[in-house]
Order: sequence, then C-alpha cells, then structure tokens
Amino acid sequence: MSSAVKVQFNRHFRQVNSTKRRYRALRGSAGSGKSVNIAQDYILKLGDPKYAGANLLCVRKVNETNRNSTYSELVGAINRIYGERAEEYWEVLKSPLMIRSRITGNEIIFRGMNDFRDREKIKSITFTKGKLVWIWVEEATELQESDVDILDDRLRGILLNPNLYYQITFSFNPVSAQHWIKRKYFDRASPDVLTHHSTYRQNRFIDPAYYRRMERRKIEDPEGYMIYGEGEWGELGGLILKNFVIHDFDTSYEMFDTMHHGQDFGFNHANAILTVGVKDGEFFICNEIYVHEMDTGQIIEIADRRGLSKYLTMYCDSAEPDRIQMWQNAGYNATAVVKEPGSVQAQIDYLKQRKIHIHPDCVNTIKEIQQWSWRKDKKTGLYLDEPVAFMDDAMAALRYAAEPLRRPEMKYSNERPAGW
Ligand SMILES: Nc1ncnc2c1ncn2[C@@H]1O[C@H](COP(=O)(O)OP(=O)(O)OP(=O)(O)O)[C@@H](O)[C@H]1O
Ligand SMILES: [Mg+2]
Repeated sequence: MSSAVKVQFNRHFRQVNSTKRRYRALRGSAGSGKSVNIAQDYILKLGDPKYAGANLLCVRKVNETNRNSTYSELVGAINRIYGERAEEYWEVLKSPLMIRSRITGNEIIFRGMNDFRDREKIKSITFTKGKLVWIWVEEATELQESDVDILDDRLRGILLNPNLYYQITFSFNPVSAQHWIKRKYFDRASPDVLTHHSTYRQNRFIDPAYYRRMERRKIEDPEGYMIYGEGEWGELGGLILKNFVIHDFDTSYEMFDTMHHGQDFGFNHANAILTVGVKDGEFFICNEIYVHEMDTGQIIEIADRRGLSKYLTMYCDSAEPDRIQMWQNAGYNATAVVKEPGSVQAQIDYLKQRKIHIHPDCVNTIKEIQQWSWRKDKKTGLYLDEPVAFMDDAMAALRYAAEPLRRPEMKYSNERPAGW
C-alpha cells in the first residue's frame, strides 16, 4: 500500500492481530479499543495481496445494527488508513452493505443471527472470488451458542492460498459470568483459542472526559463498572426493561398515530433527545440525539442541522426552565413534564407494559436500555425500587416522551399541528 497515512494501533492488541488461532475472543471494558482495532486489522489484511482469496463476514444478532457498528468501523478504518485515496483502493456499497478491495477483490459482507431466515442465509453465502475465511462476531454475547456452531461449520475445506487460515473473532463486554462464551473459550485453555482482556485505560486514544465518566460510574454503578469499566465477568442483573426489539422500520411521521420528542438535559451526563412514534399503543424510538459536554446552543445547532421537527411537542425535564426557554426561542415546541413523587416508578411501570421498538440507528439508546437496571442494596443483595443513576439519560428522555400518553388528563398536546 502506498498511502502516506500511517495507521495507529494500540499496543495491547499486537498479539491479537498476529495470531492464527481459529478463535480470537476479545473481552473488554467499554472503550478499550476492540472494535477499532479489529476493523483496522481486517482492512490491512484484506487489502494485502498476500491474503488474496480471503473474505470476511461480519455478524451481529440484529443485521441492521451492523450499519452503525461493524460497517461504520470498517469504513472509518479505510478512511484513516488510506486517507484521500480510500476510493482508489476500496469500493464501499451501502445497499446492501458490502465492502470490496479494488486491489485483491476480497470482500466484506454483513449478516444477522436473529431468526431462522437469518441462519439459513448464512448457510448459503458465496463470494465472487475465494472463500469465507474470517468471521467477526461483534457484541458476541448477544448470540446463542448454537449460532456459533453454524458459523463454525462454514469455515472448512482446503485453502489454495497457503497464507490463508480460518478464524472467528469475538468482541464483547463480559456481561455475565454464566455466559456460554466464558465456558466455551475462557474456562479451559486450548491451543485453538486466543483469549484477550482489555480496558479503556490501555486505550491511548481515550479522552479525559471518558475517564471522568468512568470514575463516576465506579461510584454510582459498581456492578456495571465491573463489566463496562474493568472488562471483568460480571452480572447484569435487575434489568428494568426487557420488552424491546431492535429492527428497521419506517420512521416517517405518517406511520404513527402520534409522534413527539422527549429530552433529558445534561452536560457531564449525556443530553438525550429521542423522537418517539406511537402506533396502536406501541412505542417506536425513531431517532436520537445523544451528546456529552455540549451547551444548549450547540445542541440546538445539531438539532437544526439534523432537521429535528419543530412541530412535534418536545417533552423536557422540568428542572431546567431556562433551557426549555432556549429551545422555545429557537422555534421548538418545548414544554416541561410535570414531576411528582413516585413519577419515575409510575413511568417505568407504564413503559414495561408497552412494546418498545428501537430503530438500529439509535445506538446509544440501545446501549442504555440493555444496561438500565435497578439499584442493588449492598447489605441484602436485593434490588431496590430505584434505577441505577448512570447511563440513564436516553431512558429519562423515553420516560418524558411517554408522559403525554400515560397522563392524557394533563392536557399534553398530541394534536397534529397546523400545516401537517
Ligand atoms: N487505533 C485507534 N486509533 C484511533 N482511535 C482509536 C483507536 N482505538 C480506539 N480509538 C478510539 O477509542 C474509542 C473506543 O474504541 P472502540 O470503540 O474500539 O472500543 P470498544 O472496546 O470497541 O468499546 P465497546 O466495548 O464500548 O464497544 C474509539 O471510538 C476511538 O475514538
Ligand atoms: Mg466496540
């Protein structure tokens, strides 16, 4: 490769990138650099004529979530490594997702593992050139053990290029000490398996604000910190919402009975704005704006740029009337949600009874909902009737967005505004 750009790696992944063992299992804290490293590693290899005939399959449980994870990481890696010459070297297709090296002809494709149809599709994959030799399972704890057996089955047969080798790479946060992935790859040493552990502290590209958030998590959410801060096998017990599904759906206004925004203000915490549609009593989280350490003016700019609808009512945290005023001045239909004692629990009860659909683009909402849990009493080990006060900002926005439906008597306006 004759690019002037020099690719940067975190040193602690050196062995991961050189091993030819059949399985690479990377457990780590949030932000430890796993995904970026794997993406860069594959882009360098797939673009190298030495590995001609190699093809990569990227797998997530929900296929659509590849777009904002594996696919965008790989495209990011191409841009970092090849800079302005990216297009000369790589062909990047969006629909369906596909990436191909113009030098080697090696391809990258993307699949899910959510149902029977997904699994059947994986059994019939073919490539223009060469064979399927590498598989990257991102957020691997989402998969079932039997899914991995199906993937494993695909990697066999003679390889004509002696430089090629079969390999499955798993990357994940170690969400449960009971998980099959621990038993299968970590509890017993095997010459076929390279296990790896990493934390955000080893990632030299992490900014100080991220450190501060992690320090806060250590105090406010010790169990979550174990997993997402230390990358140690933990237990994500006491999850609050389990009634959600992640899938692609039409997010246009016409699809829903009503639609509005919910906003939780934040600076050190995230500032989260969700656009929620309601259809036949089910919730559809269509869109998110999720930012840290930005003031209201900057967030309004982002909302303007993204074309966030100014017609829809925006239900906001009532604790910050000044910020609500700023949104109103900028033309948004912002209003305060009335808070009362016990309203958090009541909102949660309400949300538990609805089916919640989440669009795959709402990556932060998905992260939060998968971790949002009840606080545990240190002495008794029992869960309390109170959520952990960490990574709950999109969840707060969701609670606010549910208010006009939970309490229609508050005369929250769901009217279709004039002009619609
Ligand atoms: N080699 C690198 N070059 C440049 N930036 C990097 C590199 N590795 C990591 N980073 C930065 O660190 C951030 C976190 O890395 P990454 O997303 O790979 O972590 P992760 O281990 O996959 O986290 P999670 O478990 O939350 O998915 C990236 O968003 C990127 O900004
Ligand atoms: Mg990652």
